[in-house]
Amino acid sequence: PEARTMPGPLLGRHVVVTSGPTHEPIDPVRYIANRSSGAQGAAIAAALRDLGAKVSFVTGPASVPPPDGVDVIRVETARQMRDAVEAALPADVAVMAAAVADWRVTNAVERKIKKDGSGNPPALEMVENPDILAWISQLERRRPALVVGFAAETHDVVENATAKRKRKGCDWIVANDVSPATGIMGGQENAVTLIRPDGVEAWPRMGKDEVARRLAEAIADAL
Ligand code: CTP
Ligand code: CA
Repeated sequence: PEARTMPGPLLGRHVVVTSGPTHEPIDPVRYIANRSSGAQGAAIAAALRDLGAKVSFVTGPASVPPPDGVDVIRVETARQMRDAVEAALPADVAVMAAAVADWRVTNAVERKIKKDGSGNPPALEMVENPDILAWISQLERRRPALVVGFAAETHDVVENATAKRKRKGCDWIVANDVSPATGIMGGQENAVTLIRPDGVEAWPRMGKDEVARRLAEAIADAL
């Protein structure tokens, strides 16, 4: 469907949202991925839309559908995601909710890898993917006024996320406990801590739609 804009505090603002996992091919039938469903990113895009923003929704192969009323740009790999984000600029706000694969396979091949009879698995060589959040945070000319990252952590959540915010140069980080015990990765709920330059705010566990609504409101208040 055509993107539409609604009246609201974000009317006239353009927001780029990344969402979902990325897939990094090994061969034509196999890839490296992660457990992201894309639900939190989709909810954030919908909440920003509801406040009147024009949303460019750059999504990897997610298991939840993209929301109506946003511009959907579908990608597969981290590098495609980076290029799509770049093509969507300029933007007032960037929210990088994607679970980007940290590595890609450098010796990916065009034909299906076959067992060779030796019992030995193929050796996959990997290289780090571009860090889209760090890249956009450090843009000189076209940096969005507000850059929001996520931090998926299984331990020392606030400490790790605070360090991540500084390292990447984004304005805010939404820290996310993805340890298996929380059941959050792939689920309907989220427990986040919003880390901003002026303080840390732990939100109670709530639905991903509610996290999205509160985050969109905080973004509208900040602009
Ligand atoms: N991110 C990104 N590009 C990457 C890796 C991560 O844009 N190649 C973004 C994510 O969308 C998220 C933030 O960076 O907003 C943090 O992602 P996370 O995986 O928690 O951090 P990493 O820097 O990849 O560190 P690590 O996985 O080692 O904890
Ligand atoms: Ca990562």
